[in-house]
Amino acid sequence: MLQAVQQAVLSFDGAYALGVVAVDDPDTLIAARKGSPLVIGVGIGEHFIASDVSALLPVTQNFIFLEEGDIAKLSRASIEIYDRNGHRVEREVKVSNLSVTAVELGEHRHYMHKEIFEQPQAVMDTLDGRISQDKVFVSSFGPLAQQIFDEIEQVHIIACGTSYHAGLVAKYWMEDIIDLPCQVEAASEFRYRNPVIQNNTLFVTISQSGETADTLAALHKIKLQREKKNISTLTICNVAESSLTREADISYLTHAGPEVGVASTKAFTTQLVALALLLVSLGKTKGTLTVEREALIVSGLHKLPSLIANALTHEDEIEAIAQLFADKQHALFLGRGTMYPIAMEGALKLKEISYIHAEAYPAGELKHGPLALIDETMPVVAIAPLDDLLEKLKSNLQEVKARGGQMVVFEDEQSDISSERGFRVIKATTNVGRITAPITYNILLQLLSYHVALIKGTDVDQPRNLAKSVTVE
Ligand code: G6P
Repeated sequence: MLQAVQQAVLSFDGAYALGVVAVDDPDTLIAARKGSPLVIGVGIGEHFIASDVSALLPVTQNFIFLEEGDIAKLSRASIEIYDRNGHRVEREVKVSNLSVTAVELGEHRHYMHKEIFEQPQAVMDTLDGRISQDKVFVSSFGPLAQQIFDEIEQVHIIACGTSYHAGLVAKYWMEDIIDLPCQVEAASEFRYRNPVIQNNTLFVTISQSGETADTLAALHKIKLQREKKNISTLTICNVAESSLTREADISYLTHAGPEVGVASTKAFTTQLVALALLLVSLGKTKGTLTVEREALIVSGLHKLPSLIANALTHEDEIEAIAQLFADKQHALFLGRGTMYPIAMEGALKLKEISYIHAEAYPAGELKHGPLALIDETMPVVAIAPLDDLLEKLKSNLQEVKARGGQMVVFEDEQSDISSERGFRVIKATTNVGRITAPITYNILLQLLSYHVALIKGTDVDQPRNLAKSVTVE
């Protein structure tokens, strides 16, 4: 059987992860992988295979991660591994530090709800050991990071789905706060076009799973250019042994813990935390961020877990407002600045789990089309932090109100929209800074889509047609 699988995979095209058992030898399992994840769980008198560590945590903490093209032969008593050339090889057994409770539901009805409420802890875990009272440790990005950051002159972020939205927030931060050019692109676009790659670019791939096929293909494409241009690659990822983490020059692990719900919540929040630390690290290296500014950002990050915990206390109010969406087919999300990508993420969450068509727009673009859609059947969600753009946003909201639109506004306690009649307003937070604001407001949008989905009775953790880890094109 081993030889048969070794022969068969030679003619395979594309990515695969296989477990093969012969009817006449049921105690032998052949496992093979290329392009798709496959882990071996090492037990006592029993061994397992799965696509992800978290599936096996109830039975073992010990794992072997197969390399590209590896084939393994498992029996109850033994594990033999052969590389792509058929040579017998040893692969290290790694001990996972994830506990089985990390993948148990506990008191929560859904994993998504559990993961939303885990966010204060996930942020603490992601920051742990990476910042001091007032500084970011550049070495958190690995021993090579300082040298790489010294050399680069711009950043190019590539990701998919929710991770792409984290990149969009970072673009505002990088260009606004540290003057560093930053582009962001969906991996599925990048991989099939002919991008002009600038010298001295830091390519950042962001991924919860580290296995998304398009993001991985984009990284491979970038690496082909490496000889010609001075390019470095960084992966921000939630899975230590994932393909992206292994293949990038340097990596930063978000310590969100396993994320089970298909709709990403805590992974996104911790990606933003990682990007904030990248921002500070690059700003320090380039001399565009003062010590005082660094201290201010770090102090905001220290406050973040409690800001999130406070946002979570608004759940009952949000649950009541969710009723407005129960019989609606569409919704519009508005924001300006970093709140525009947060509006995109809010709209994506609503689409994913409640199946309501939702679209995000930069509030200033309303008049170029979406205003024509506004009537009482189109709820409009707006994010109104206390920032330089608040007055502009307020006038956009008046335009919506004048057309009979139903508004839901998440505002700063001092944004003062609540005095306007006809708006459903949640005084969501206060005293948030440029880094902490998008992260905090996003929590409220997560709760909104969760409660709309509950009312609609959809499968919150496993929405139809979607997968957690998109390992095929
Ligand atoms: C899927 C998931 C999304 C996720 C996206 C990218 O579409 O449902 O939640 O944002 O893939 O996944 P990644 O693991 O690369 O972050």
